[in-house]
Amino acid sequence: MGLGYIGLPTAIIAAKHGIEVVGVDINQSVVDKTNSGNLHIVEEGLEALLQEVVTSGSFKAYTCPQEADAYFMVVPTPFKGDHEPDISFVESATRMVLPLLKKGDLYVIESTSPVGTTEKMAELIFAERPELKGNIYIAYCPERVLPGNIIYELVNNDRVIGGIDEASTAKAKEFYAQFVKGQLHATNSRTAEMCKLTENASRDVQIAFANELSLICDKAGINVWELIQLANKHPRVNILQPGCGVGGHCIAVDPYFISSAYPAESRIISEARNINNYKAEWCAEKVRTAMLEFELKNHRAPAVAMMGLAFKPNIDDLRESPAKSIASRVLQSCNNGNVMVVEPNIKEHNVFKLTNYKTAYETADIVVYLVNHREFATLNYRSDVQVLDFCGVFKK
Ligand SMILES: NC(=O)c1ccc[n+]([C@@H]2O[C@H](COP(=O)([O-])OP(=O)(O)OC[C@H]3O[C@@H](n4cnc5c(N)ncnc54)[C@H](O)[C@@H]3O)[C@@H](O)[C@H]2O)c1
Repeated sequence: MGLGYIGLPTAIIAAKHGIEVVGVDINQSVVDKTNSGNLHIVEEGLEALLQEVVTSGSFKAYTCPQEADAYFMVVPTPFKGDHEPDISFVESATRMVLPLLKKGDLYVIESTSPVGTTEKMAELIFAERPELKGNIYIAYCPERVLPGNIIYELVNNDRVIGGIDEASTAKAKEFYAQFVKGQLHATNSRTAEMCKLTENASRDVQIAFANELSLICDKAGINVWELIQLANKHPRVNILQPGCGVGGHCIAVDPYFISSAYPAESRIISEARNINNYKAEWCAEKVRTAMLEFELKNHRAPAVAMMGLAFKPNIDDLRESPAKSIASRVLQSCNNGNVMVVEPNIKEHNVFKLTNYKTAYETADIVVYLVNHREFATLNYRSDVQVLDFCGVFKK
């Protein structure tokens, strides 16, 4: 259920390993594209595998679920306006498969979910189909692949598998063992749910530490890049790199699944989210100040190059991107002024007019590095203009 960034590759890899797979998505165009062998997501090497499994007949997509022996929920789990997790997609996908479930079936949630979601869905299933209680297997198995490296990681990463009981854990392990070479670690469903959230909250907290250091160092007149490099010479210290915030649909989202359920206890996790969000505001403010200072000195508005929009280097994904929000704030503050927006990984954008990165760099009075894309390292450092390097391209 769900043929997106995670569901589609999982379906393809399972089919490639000899499992007969029915892919279900409520989006008709995803289904049509998939059945015609065209990948609707970006993932190198995956389209050839899709064509192989579609041609061999081991994988077919539908808009409605078909009867199967195992069902996997791989649908979105966003957060609502108040940062409360929204599990309505998981619930609606579960309701869609409910009438098809039979004795001996396996039901697995892969979507990143708040603690207790698997038990909640088990209750929903048993409330509607009481005869299935004790007769089907229900488990949670989160995904931790890196987009861009999915084909390798889906097979080789270790996975955590937690059932609502031991029989469910064992059944789910048996399923994944058909195509996962990494170790399959057994636990219960609540621990498995929390494990996925913990992995991303851990990254968020560690990045927040680096971002906090960058704020302190800015005030103290210390080069944060040099500081971190030196501190990391300690054999047991490993500080991450600061940036202009934290983005993406995982690290910037999942910690809220913990903090909204356990607000009193999750003080570091909540504060890390605040620090990483604040870092983007701080960067936007720095750019605005630099622009005002330039204008006061030169009696004209500066040309500004905003370098990068993606949420991390060398990708085209702008979801929850701090660079995007900084670019928007700066553009709004100067009524779109002379601000050039650069993103070498995308050709066009419906909100931002994009400028070639070399042109923007060469003509700007103020250069703002938001994302450390590999293209930017090929540019020579311009000492004749002000460079605001928030992501350590030149580490100056
Ligand atoms: N993308 C990642 O890198 C990643 C990594 C780990 C975990 N996750 C988690 O995996 C889950 C899925 O993420 P994704 O990136 O694949 O999402 P996605 O948005 O790329 O894809 C989800 C798909 O589900 C479909 N869908 C929605 N409701 C449906 C329903 N009731 N029945 C069938 N299809 C339905 C949508 O049309 C969409 O195509 C999320 O919980 C996410 O947090 C994602």
